[in-house]
Amino acid sequence: MNNSSIGVFDSGLGGLTAVKSIRERFPHENIIYFGDTGRLPYGTKTDETIKKYAASDIRFLLSHNVKLVIIACGTASSVALEDMQRQFDTQVVGVVEAACTAAVKACKNGRIGVIGTSTTIKSGSYLRGIADLNSHIEVYSKACPLFVPLVENGHFDSEVTRIITDEYIREIRDKDVDTLILGCTHYPLLAKTIGEYMGSGVTLINPSEELAKMLSGILGSDNLADSANAGRCEYYVSDDEKGFAELGGVFLQRKIDGQVRKIDIEKY
Ligand code: DGL
Repeated sequence: MNNSSIGVFDSGLGGLTAVKSIRERFPHENIIYFGDTGRLPYGTKTDETIKKYAASDIRFLLSHNVKLVIIACGTASSVALEDMQRQFDTQVVGVVEAACTAAVKACKNGRIGVIGTSTTIKSGSYLRGIADLNSHIEVYSKACPLFVPLVENGHFDSEVTRIITDEYIREIRDKDVDTLILGCTHYPLLAKTIGEYMGSGVTLINPSEELAKMLSGILGSDNLADSANAGRCEYYVSDDEKGFAELGGVFLQRKIDGQVRKIDIEKY
């Protein structure tokens, strides 16, 4: 048994979708969450900048002696994971592999769609991840940069979201994919709109959820928390702790339980 915390980071609020999935499946785990709200968005930045940010985010989490680092951010998982794994001794995992594994398993017609931030789609990370598992699957990708601001402004299921969904995803829908990876932390909050648009025959893959399902395998059963452990969650941000506390509940689908503290990430 190991009651050290699991460290989770994202560019902002979005990674709370991962915290939600982990807490549902592993209620005894302690979690340290860092949302880099002062430097977001990551999805439009260069690989070099994202690697620099990811390294400081991980140094902050390691200052809390976490037993595992989860890169909940689709963008940082896409461009920084391998560098971070080389740089740090503590185990670091991203969300891409788990999502690709689930998508390949769900796909029956040989066609998968992937949506994500501009940097994620440009990186080709999901394309490679799927090809590594099954090189016969056709992958259709699309960057959807307006989805993040829509979610952050509460447009989960509004007319404007439906119009933009049509604009972004029509091409992918027309390819008759039967599986769609929601390759950005914010997109699971648009699952209703996207799901209705794609139709009931299309399986939506939430990468955080898939990673949470694999967690005991990743950690190893000896490294899971004691079943008597209460499972606390501490939240840290690099800016606007009040805004995080207010909007965070939407991502967690429960009130943020505990104080949100602001830290100076430039020190790490
Ligand atoms: N967290 C980012 C991701 O999952 C989306 C928000 C951003 O661009 O920073 O790709």
